[in-house]
Amino acid sequence: MCGIVGYTGGRRASEIIYEGLKQLEYRGYDSAGIATLSGGNITVVKRQGRVNALENCIGDISGSTGIGHTRWATHGKPSDINAHPHSAGKFAVVHNGIIENYAYLKERFFKDVSFTSQTDSEIIVRLLDAFYSGNLLSAINKVGSLLKGSYAIVVMCTDFNGLVVLKYNNPAIIGYGSGENFIASDCPALAGLCSEITIPEDGDIAFVTKDGVEIYDAGLNRVERPRLENLATPASLELGDCPHYMLKEIREVPASVEGTVLSYRTAEAKLKRVVNGVKRVIIIGCGTAYNSGLVAKRYIESFARIPAEAEIAGEFRYKNPIITADTLVIAISQSGETADTVEGVKLCKSLGAKVIAVTNSPYSGITRYADAVAPVTAGSEICVAATKSYTGQITALYLLAHTIAGLSIGEAYARLAVMPSLCKKTLECAGIDTLADMCARSGGVYFLGRDIDCAVAAEGSLKLKEVSYVPCEGYPAGELKHGTLALIDIKAVAVVIITSKHLAGKSENAVEQVLSRRGKVAIISNIDGIEKTFEGRAQVIKIPACDENLSPLLSAIAVQLLAYKTALLLDRDPDKPRNLAKSVTVE
Ligand code: AGP
Repeated sequence: MCGIVGYTGGRRASEIIYEGLKQLEYRGYDSAGIATLSGGNITVVKRQGRVNALENCIGDISGSTGIGHTRWATHGKPSDINAHPHSAGKFAVVHNGIIENYAYLKERFFKDVSFTSQTDSEIIVRLLDAFYSGNLLSAINKVGSLLKGSYAIVVMCTDFNGLVVLKYNNPAIIGYGSGENFIASDCPALAGLCSEITIPEDGDIAFVTKDGVEIYDAGLNRVERPRLENLATPASLELGDCPHYMLKEIREVPASVEGTVLSYRTAEAKLKRVVNGVKRVIIIGCGTAYNSGLVAKRYIESFARIPAEAEIAGEFRYKNPIITADTLVIAISQSGETADTVEGVKLCKSLGAKVIAVTNSPYSGITRYADAVAPVTAGSEICVAATKSYTGQITALYLLAHTIAGLSIGEAYARLAVMPSLCKKTLECAGIDTLADMCARSGGVYFLGRDIDCAVAAEGSLKLKEVSYVPCEGYPAGELKHGTLALIDIKAVAVVIITSKHLAGKSENAVEQVLSRRGKVAIISNIDGIEKTFEGRAQVIKIPACDENLSPLLSAIAVQLLAYKTALLLDRDPDKPRNLAKSVTVE
């Protein structure tokens, strides 16, 4: 949520920052700004709109030290004034996070001062300006001690030829160049710029100049933090022949399954130790990650025969959960930075649970608190809508469920080995264009399924509503008649997922119920003969036959393509849906 870039070195800062902001635009895209330091002066440009609104100003701002920001508004509507950087006196700052006590701090220290913006972030620069009297470390430390909430802040001061990072519960990464150094919210913005990074810890204050990095912990002790390899590459950001990241990333589903299987092999031994003796499993995540948890619940309960619950992380952390020493918590997060999930993990650790993180981001917040990581190796996912990370999560969770159950992992690998080629076939499956057209014209779309298909129905609904803005629900097929059926009329479309053979007849009942109310029906299925049963009455999208437990890998591709194509028909930008951001680092 919000992307931050900082540069200090010998090159024109505005150009490097602008390019970095474009890479981070998935974190927020309602306004953007850049500030540079040149000749002891700070120049700020900021605009409402996407990062390219800055393109024409880049040439006007000189300086080889600067900061930039792409915003997802939390406090104050998107506007030029509310865009970051914010400046006061000798300072300019960019901020990702929320300052929860900004109103209190404003009242306490600036009672009669009128602020320029409506943001919570302006308080940071005002406090720096008020407390600075020549010692930057002490002023930043003082301001940090006053702030409540979450933040990654980069400070620029006219008295210092470099940048200062202050971080608490929000991501900030420092990248090492030669005669230049970088700061970013996430590794993709540093792809191709530096091969080594450092991740400051919460409470750290890092001074970054072109020649080096000095880090102080919360007690103001000079500390060393490890240098890590930057795994993001420029190639992972290229669109190739795809018009959108969403399509590119759906096409990368086969590779995400393959990559995740390979990386699970390296993590397996440690995961086996962590799950030893586990009697109960709680799975937490948000959005798509929660939806993959719904699939995992089924895997764990059916393979290991121990109770498993999938919980929305933002609800779970406030419900005083029952955790015992033999409880395993599986935290799922593509970014590994989702605030609710990270806080849920911290809570579970404090209550004595074992925690396994399932994530696509090896250096993320979630990995720092977990006992072990089940890696998702989907590669950089830029589109706000999760696609290949969902299938990567399901792959990792399928394997993890085998480890928990003590079942033969070799057989699980063998069953997964055929899936990438089946995923490729699913990418070509017929009928999705017609269904997209039905959805684009509909008054509402109802994704239905039973058991594992119901879990994918929830994801189908989230995907379609997120990128097309068509109202949708994901619902258990058997529950339809208990209320939701009242919504079915001639304008409604039901997308019924049927891959569980033993429940196919039951799901077909739901198809008949919708057809009887004149609703339109499409069926996503790999069951033989289903086309014949519904010939002329429902559109059938046939996906390849596969092991029943792994069918979500294929039905997910169908619903992802459906969402993408519907978004295009309705002229939406599938990569950057309105009001959303990829990495939700605030509550
Ligand atoms: C998915 O399409 C969404 N953009 C969203 O629901 C996302 O899955 C959710 O915010 C969780 O993100 P995470 O996996 O990075 O924790």
